Amino acid sequence: MKAPKDYIIFPLDVPTINDAAGYVKLLSGFVGMFKVGLELFIEAGPEVIQLINKAGDTDIFLDLKLHDIPETVSRAMARIAGLNVKFVTVHCGETPRMLEAAVEGGGGKVGVLGVTVLTSVSAEDVGSAGFREEFSKDVSKLVLNRAAMAKAAGCAGVVCSGHEVKMIKEVFGKDFLTITPGIRPSWEAGDDDQRRIVTPERAVENGADYLVIGRPIRDAEDPVSVARRIADEVGMVRIIL
Ligand code: C5P
Repeated sequence: MKAPKDYIIFPLDVPTINDAAGYVKLLSGFVGMFKVGLELFIEAGPEVIQLINKAGDTDIFLDLKLHDIPETVSRAMARIAGLNVKFVTVHCGETPRMLEAAVEGGGGKVGVLGVTVLTSVSAEDVGSAGFREEFSKDVSKLVLNRAAMAKAAGCAGVVCSGHEVKMIKEVFGKDFLTITPGIRPSWEAGDDDQRRIVTPERAVENGADYLVIGRPIRDAEDPVSVARRIADEVGMVRIIL
């Protein structure tokens, strides 16, 4: 059975491979997965993936949020397939073809996660981007629409906010993975760019498979104790469920 700490994905949102190595050493055993995003991958490339793989058995999520023509995405995915990472992100974008190309390019060696609507995006933003009122009035409709695209293309799951997990599980089944960023513990007064936020407990109650938790852990005086406290809270919810 999945341990409570395995719900936590810690994003290595740091500028150098040395900074990343520090967090990998500190948090291995206290989180379930390390996420490598654009900042670190642009700086350190596949070397940082090797570093994490050598450090132990914590899984890796390569969060590159690909978005390009299907041929380019497929070719990028063929390179990623050789890196030994568990998940990679691709934007759901405008058509299912890019997602299908991603799944095919990965050759079954990496799980493709569709990015539905970023948790930093509000309903107002969706309206200003020119979407129909149906979507700007209720962002979850846009999320559902994009999740359907990801499911049909053969993605392993989607990235969405904790508010949308329940609905996605109901429609697409419990095996379709939901990864939720925008997580803020109730005891953490966050005032940053995240908008559609929920607590770790609520996200897990709603059925989230993984929680991306960055700044509350990274910027804490004692990151390990924050990761442990979150895992304890997740563990309590799991007992009740
Ligand atoms: O917890 P915190 O807000 O610091 O987490 C930030 C991380 O979550 C970043 O690595 C960002 O790329 C990721 N994120 C994501 N999908 C979103 C929103 C944020 O993967 N929709």
